[in-house]
Amino acid sequence: MRVSVIGCGYLGAVHAGAMAALGHDVVGVDVDEAKVAALSAGRAPFFEPGLPELLAQTTASGRLRFSTDLSEVAGCEVHFVCVGTPQRHHEFAADLTYVDAAFADLAAFLAPGDVVVGKSTVPVGTAERLAAGLEGTGAVLIWNPEFLREGFAVQDTLHPDRLVYGVPAGEAGERGRAVLDVVYAAPLADGVPLVVTDYATAQLVKVAANSFLATKISFINAMAELCEATGADVTALADAIGHDVRIGRKFLNAGLGFGGGCLPKDIRAFMARAGELGVDQALSFLREVDSINMRRRVRMVDLAREVCAGSIVGRRVAVLGAAFKPDSDDVRDSPALSVAAQMRLQGAHVTVTDPQAIPNAQRAWPDLVFADTAEAAAQGADVVILATEWREYRALDPEKLAQVVRSKAIVDGRNVLDPVAWRGAGWTYRALGRP
Ligand code: UDX
Repeated sequence: MRVSVIGCGYLGAVHAGAMAALGHDVVGVDVDEAKVAALSAGRAPFFEPGLPELLAQTTASGRLRFSTDLSEVAGCEVHFVCVGTPQRHHEFAADLTYVDAAFADLAAFLAPGDVVVGKSTVPVGTAERLAAGLEGTGAVLIWNPEFLREGFAVQDTLHPDRLVYGVPAGEAGERGRAVLDVVYAAPLADGVPLVVTDYATAQLVKVAANSFLATKISFINAMAELCEATGADVTALADAIGHDVRIGRKFLNAGLGFGGGCLPKDIRAFMARAGELGVDQALSFLREVDSINMRRRVRMVDLAREVCAGSIVGRRVAVLGAAFKPDSDDVRDSPALSVAAQMRLQGAHVTVTDPQAIPNAQRAWPDLVFADTAEAAAQGADVVILATEWREYRALDPEKLAQVVRSKAIVDGRNVLDPVAWRGAGWTYRALGRP
């Protein structure tokens, strides 16, 4: 099918590549000229494993091209809207400026029978409003939330856990659904479960899923607080409760907590929307989920202070990790950078390193000092903080790192290092939720 993808960020660029890999003829549109130039040359404008290969292969095949000119979407039968919905400044609610603009601009290029597919994460009720705005174009809107994880985005898009369609009642909705079945013919043939529902449910599925994941992480981080107060070990606790299949071990890794462009802003936007709907009490627990999450960052700084004999003023701190999670260069709401910035504000000399995210981190926090490698960041350090669990940091050799630091002290913010090995090499090892 002839497909357009509007918005080529972390979601849209991968979606465009994946749609071309599924055999469709795709044009991706973005306002950012540098991004479009990179994508057109088959290069990924951000770090995402597998994306460079996907783009190289699909742009070379001639089935994928990119443009800054929205009129190029004319003639496509399906239009995926993948623009961002960031948190508004000084508010919990989502900023819908980009979604509204994308729909308003797109309307001019739609033909009767076209299918517009909303993938952006929006407050429930938005799809209904956007569908009303398309009246008169002859196009139908389907809401099809996206569940991809950064770091696994290509795999998640080509082999999703499930597909969800929010479809309006009536003949146009049925037709739109049939078109989307053709778009997703390959994953559907592979047996990917499909849930067809109404607009409201489809929009809620996305924020409900992210709220559940955030709650699971904050639950185990709350248990970590209990472990800290009692001398218990949260990693053993997570293993033990995770054996119960009703609970499951996934997303029970205690540590610095969640960040990124989705979980934090999605739970806040969900709370804001619940307030507008008069059901804020239903989500008041998410405020606690958010608070537990933010407290972990403060606790991390406190732990560093403890190992520095009560003060970090003038101390050298190495922070390993800037991205909000490994295998990503995304620093939006990154717990690692938040800890680094707090420590700097409190008078420490902080050096941050990351295998991929330094350019983005430098743009977001120009006052921080950066180094290319863990060894360089740890030169003369009084304390080393593992903030993002990149594979190369998990594999660090305590004997080797000991040669460059001033004081052998490490705080494991992700509970991924072996305390026995580090203590055995003479290090003071501290972690969140572990004795
Ligand atoms: C999330 C959802 O997983 C995805 O389905 C949705 O489409 C977008 O939001 P993403 O933001 O890419 O994806 O990251 P995810 O892997 O969910 O991790 C989110 C944060 O939680 C990271 O900061 C991670 O470090 C943290 N995390 C995750 C934990 O602290 N503990 C865990 O056990 C798991």
